[in-house]
Amino acid sequence: MEDMKSPLAHKPDYLVCTCMGVMASEIRQAIMDGNRNFDSLSELLMVGTGCSSCVDEVCELLKQESQHCVPKG
Ligand code: FES
Repeated sequence: MEDMKSPLAHKPDYLVCTCMGVMASEIRQAIMDGNRNFDSLSELLMVGTGCSSCVDEVCELLKQESQHCVPKG
């Protein structure tokens, strides 16, 4: 599960989406892999498909990594 080769591995990790059990590192990796909008991340990792309380946090990560966030309404 842990990818120590990732350049992101040194960043602190934490659970972002408790509903789907998605860690910040998984979201950052997905963004680095080219999923640069909320819909792509949601489709890939299922973030925001439960209670939606993680949407703001996912957006924060998107902004940190790719400077923008357009969550679906
Ligand atoms: S915490 Fe992500 S959908 Fe509930």
